[in-house]
Amino acid sequence: MSDKSSIWAQLQALADGDLPPLNALFQADANRAARLSYSAGSLFADFSKQRLTTDIHAHLLRLAQASGIERQRDRLFAGDKINTSENRAVLHPALRGTGGTPAIRKQVADMRARTAEFAGKIREAGTYKAIVHIGIGGSDLGPRLCADALAATAKPALDLRFSENIDGASINDALAGLEPETTLVITVSKSFTTQETRMNSEAARDWLGKFARANMVAVTANKQGAIDFGIPSGQIFEFWDWVGGRFSLWSAVGLSLQITYGPDVFDQLLAGAAEMDTHFIDAPLENNLPIMLAMTGIWNRNFLGYANQAVVPYARRLRKLSRFLQQLEMESNGKCVTRDGNPAGITCPVIWGDEGSNSQHAFFQFLHQSRNGSPVDFFAILQDNENRPAHTRALLANCFAQSEALMTGKSETTVRAELTAQGLSALDIDKLAPQKTFPGNRPSTTIVMQRLDTRTLGNLLALYEHKVFVQSVIWDINAFDQWGVELGKVLAGTILDDLGADTPSSHDSSTAALIALAREAAKS
Ligand code: F6P
Repeated sequence: MSDKSSIWAQLQALADGDLPPLNALFQADANRAARLSYSAGSLFADFSKQRLTTDIHAHLLRLAQASGIERQRDRLFAGDKINTSENRAVLHPALRGTGGTPAIRKQVADMRARTAEFAGKIREAGTYKAIVHIGIGGSDLGPRLCADALAATAKPALDLRFSENIDGASINDALAGLEPETTLVITVSKSFTTQETRMNSEAARDWLGKFARANMVAVTANKQGAIDFGIPSGQIFEFWDWVGGRFSLWSAVGLSLQITYGPDVFDQLLAGAAEMDTHFIDAPLENNLPIMLAMTGIWNRNFLGYANQAVVPYARRLRKLSRFLQQLEMESNGKCVTRDGNPAGITCPVIWGDEGSNSQHAFFQFLHQSRNGSPVDFFAILQDNENRPAHTRALLANCFAQSEALMTGKSETTVRAELTAQGLSALDIDKLAPQKTFPGNRPSTTIVMQRLDTRTLGNLLALYEHKVFVQSVIWDINAFDQWGVELGKVLAGTILDDLGADTPSSHDSSTAALIALAREAAKS
């Protein structure tokens, strides 16, 4: 038995054995919160409400080591081709100055200087009132999340809008009320072949009319594709095949943020991410925040059997975090074969969530009282950014109360005592007590930030990027390809043809009937 499999078996035995409930773990160790709290950059993370004992924690770190995490981490930063199915290096950290070769670092610095100069010029000229950023997936989610989050401490110079969905409502809403002459359209697409992005860019090009040539910019790894589309070469900003789409925020993909908030603000975002890179590389495993976040996820998924992971920022300006992490984690680690092509074990959980406190009035019932609930990552920001200190206090109170309630629960004995004190009859108490009981012992992590400033945001996003990588090493899967999205794209092309063809091609009876309905509707 390899080291890894024997540690895995020991962890399984610990999970199957008598795992003390969280309440008991806290009672037994007054130092628990301090012992299981981590810091990196401006982030503080409390893992003490995870169902971890000292022994489990130690075994998880040994599992990380036995899986070769240190060697794989070195390979990532050195630019080895660890994306084996596409034969590519994975160097998004180089975009913020960490790792890579001197040649790559120069390439990055040159492009950064070019985008900063372009952004500066647009800001100074003041010709444009709005930017429409067109892209989808990794070419959308990071900039879109940051556009909201950066507004906590920086002032937007223009009206920044996004269009991603192939639904015509997306581009219509993005263009509504704008003037072609004063609108800059930035098409972001690594491949420059994505159907949604091309259709929305074509619509924007038509809408721009005579301003199209001057007012369209592209960010892409396929320069020729952008040229063929009609974008002048001087308005094309490149990134490279060693930047995965969902890790590309730090490249020229962030151009709309550079223009809207200023190149200096964007630099702070990169500096925050670089700070997390350095921590990930240098901190010993036992103090390493990305490793701890990843290994806690492994414990919950593989040993405690949780199929879900909820993400709940108590911060309106981080409300798009769950969508960003959905792509980051599930497109990366939603895999069922190992790097060698053998069947993989259980991998990525379902990532979902929304902002607090809204979610308390939506899915928290499920978290508290469904059979298993789901582990939660809570995010709290201590200082008030909105000049509303009373709101901030209430928001924090709600955040901390939820993790406490999930952990402590409320026993049937307590519920019965309360109902008795309220003077209910024995019959009513028997009826109500089970309904009002909370099982508790539900795990969560709370990540705390002093302020939602730009650097801290960089810390946070890079933390999750590294979490994803560490988990992929434990699961022995390639986190950097996404073959699973291809089949649907191909079939969509065929069906698009079928919707207009004289005789549609043959499909299963369900799909054929749906196509027939759409063809019928198009006639009316
Ligand atoms: O959803 C598949 C995907 O390929 C993502 O990985 C990517 O971020 C997105 O589509 C957009 O791709 P592109 O930047 O090439 O338009």
